[in-house]
Amino acid sequence: MAKKDTTYVCTECGNDFAKWSGQCAACGEWNTLKEFREAKSSKADEKKSQGLDLMTVEIPESTLGKEKFSSGISEVDRVLQEGFFPGSVMLLGGNPGVGKSTLALQLFLQQETAMYFSGEESREQVKARALRLGGNKNASKDALLERIFSSHALEDIITTIQKHQPALAVVDSIQMVGLSGAGLGNMQSIRENAELLVKVAKATGTALIIIGHVTKNDEIAGPKILEHVVDGVLYFEGDNETGLRMLRASKNRFGSTHEVGVFEMVGEGLKEVSNPSEYFLQQRPESSAGACISVVREGTRSFVIELQALTVKTNFGLPRRTSHGIDLSRVHLMLAVLSKFTAFPAENLDGYVNIVGGLKVKDPALDLALCAAFLSSRNNKPLPATTIVLGEVGLSGEIRSVGNLQQRLEESARLGFSQAYIPFHNRETIKAPKGMELVKLHNVGDLLKAFK
Ligand code: TYD
Ligand code: MG
Repeated sequence: MAKKDTTYVCTECGNDFAKWSGQCAACGEWNTLKEFREAKSSKADEKKSQGLDLMTVEIPESTLGKEKFSSGISEVDRVLQEGFFPGSVMLLGGNPGVGKSTLALQLFLQQETAMYFSGEESREQVKARALRLGGNKNASKDALLERIFSSHALEDIITTIQKHQPALAVVDSIQMVGLSGAGLGNMQSIRENAELLVKVAKATGTALIIIGHVTKNDEIAGPKILEHVVDGVLYFEGDNETGLRMLRASKNRFGSTHEVGVFEMVGEGLKEVSNPSEYFLQQRPESSAGACISVVREGTRSFVIELQALTVKTNFGLPRRTSHGIDLSRVHLMLAVLSKFTAFPAENLDGYVNIVGGLKVKDPALDLALCAAFLSSRNNKPLPATTIVLGEVGLSGEIRSVGNLQQRLEESARLGFSQAYIPFHNRETIKAPKGMELVKLHNVGDLLKAFK
């Protein structure tokens, strides 16, 4: 019987096909189909898997219907929405060096019965790091270190979890563990191994964190197919230039995916940033030309941030534009709008934009702040230090409504800002927070007048 066991899986969307083709029929991407062999379940294979008959493992009643338990780190609870669900499996992805192991180890340190399996570092290395991250303050320090293991052998990891049924277990990383005799890190075994771990988690009620590296194309563990196997996918983001780290859920079977957790990487590991606005404004100079304060929304929180722009005369050829934290196309667009509807000579100016603190923002509510920062830099006039600017800017220079404007204003009023430039028409009716004056603008031309 020639049963076909090879399929072709798209690494972008995860769909599979019987035949290879240059373009994925589902998502339209080119050159993303990779060969993938399905796991065989012949008698011989079952024997080879060393007595791990997971198919017959009953899910004990005790793990069903249980409530979530807190991770012990409130920024993580925020993203997971109240913590881990027993028996759930979360994939934690991110670039090498971003701090996945550090975060997982800090989560491990929060639970009395947790286990940490590292396939990447030696037991001594992980222990030393655990002590540095606060494990030395723990009363049962020695017992804690006993629950750190270094192993590539998936059989051992599974047996240990089955035997001890910890509340939480970390597998660092899925690329570095495998069944004995099988190769590490290839697409097929990664998926099979993740499926095994999911079964164990469900059977024991252990909440499991599986760490996966992100490859150059931002795929976790090579193929996206892993995302279908787990209950949730968490991405840990940040660049090496700043200490800022953000945790986001891109999939969560037990909650929504719109909250973010904010951390700072410091010498003692990851520190929670429970008040992001204060963090982003902490090094703000009194008032400087080109700086503008605005408010972005992440999940149910408002962050007050500082946006900086610099314009200088183009000396030669085409103007140069660079941006950190805002999409460059948005910068080009705002410069075009300014040049068309104000006397701003964008065609002769180089423009540089930065969001202080390393935050990356997609929120269109920052458009108007971007325009204000450019005008301020060009005219060499600082904006008033107590003013915030909010509004989306349309192609005809009109200022458009901003979502959650009331909450954004409340957050900036809390921090002492006393004046806000906002859209004249807003979808929701806005009440000025106590001590705050609202200046309503129709278009970017109004912005110019407001600053004179
Ligand atoms: P790590 O958790 O090993 O990253 P990943 O598992 O995602 O590859 O973190 C690596 C970086 O974090 C490393 O470059 C050093 C830095 N770091 C600190 O700055 N402070 C600390 O306390 C720790 C543990 C790491
Ligand atoms: Mg690591």
